[in-house]
Amino acid sequence: MAVLVTGGAGYIGSHTVRRLREAGIDTVVLDTLERGRPEAVLGAPLVVGSIADEALVTEVCRDHAVSTVIHFAAHKSVGDSMVDPGPYWANNVQGTVHLIEGMLAADVSRIVFSSSAAVYGSPEQVPITEQAPIRPENVYAETKAMMERVIHWYGVTNELRWASLRYFNAAGASADGVIGEDWSSTTNLVPLVMRAALTDAGPVDVFGTDFDTPDGSGVRDYIHVEDLAEAHLAALRHLETGGENLTVNLGTGTGTSVLEILAMTAEVHGAEVPHRLVERRIGDPATVYADSTHAATALGWSATRNLRDIISSAYAWHRQG
Ligand SMILES: NC(=O)c1ccc[n+]([C@@H]2O[C@H](COP(=O)([O-])OP(=O)(O)OC[C@H]3O[C@@H](n4cnc5c(N)ncnc54)[C@H](O)[C@@H]3O)[C@@H](O)[C@H]2O)c1
Repeated sequence: MAVLVTGGAGYIGSHTVRRLREAGIDTVVLDTLERGRPEAVLGAPLVVGSIADEALVTEVCRDHAVSTVIHFAAHKSVGDSMVDPGPYWANNVQGTVHLIEGMLAADVSRIVFSSSAAVYGSPEQVPITEQAPIRPENVYAETKAMMERVIHWYGVTNELRWASLRYFNAAGASADGVIGEDWSSTTNLVPLVMRAALTDAGPVDVFGTDFDTPDGSGVRDYIHVEDLAEAHLAALRHLETGGENLTVNLGTGTGTSVLEILAMTAEVHGAEVPHRLVERRIGDPATVYADSTHAATALGWSATRNLRDIISSAYAWHRQG
């Protein structure tokens, strides 16, 4: 029995592949490598190809005796999705349909899915529970909400068993500095802060200093990528031992401001991080963080790594350049 990890050469996928293999689970990766790096799978079997190739998905599932799929593969840039939405509907939504059809043809009926807290849009209340309304505010978030529905309906029509994991802000790198996030084309805060600290790329922008938050900057829930990897293992075990289909938030339950990230990075770096205070971006909510109670109850999982772990691991990873 093995696990097929789509997008396993990417950031969160590669940490999960590593954790699965550490737990003694046979793992095979399917990735186009348009974003991922082959070195990041650390020697796990890697098939270069797309989730949209149903025949390939079926073949890989059969060849590797796959029992469950963990589905990371997707386009994930909010900005790109609003400029050029077509590839987002095709790769994320239609790609997921092809993936599931390919799995079902090989009698694989379990899937752990990378959803996103972006499905909630700007929350009316924090912490955000899984019962909060689904109100995507951009194409990327809408594709994640639609992927959740596609998976739900395959549960109804084909007895697909599933876990949809709504991640908050993934950040950090492996504690030993072996794998981490690519900062070359990211819009995520932590790698941008690291780039500002470690290169002459220029200051990082702090969007908004007049939010209704303790220090005026935006507050988000940053979750260490190794905690996320652990949660995937818990979700896999949940499904493989007959657990019910479920949707869970994966966050720490704690909000951290942009200025707190900068302060922690300055402490680790030993110098101020170049930054500019600029206007808010339209649509950015002041505060977003998870109610993570359901993950603890349903999966027995909760985050164990803190902000210092996130910043120091990211710093060590990026410093190796
Ligand atoms: N990083 C975050 O903070 C965050 C938050 C919420 C949700 N997510 C979701 O988690 C998943 C993984 O995110 P990540 O940060 O590791 O992104 P990533 O871009 O590093 O990884 C995605 C991987 O999927 C691959 N891929 C894309 N389309 C593919 C296809 N059609 N077939 C096969 N492989 C394909 C890419 O080459 C890449 O290696 C994504 O679905 C993303 O939407 C991420």
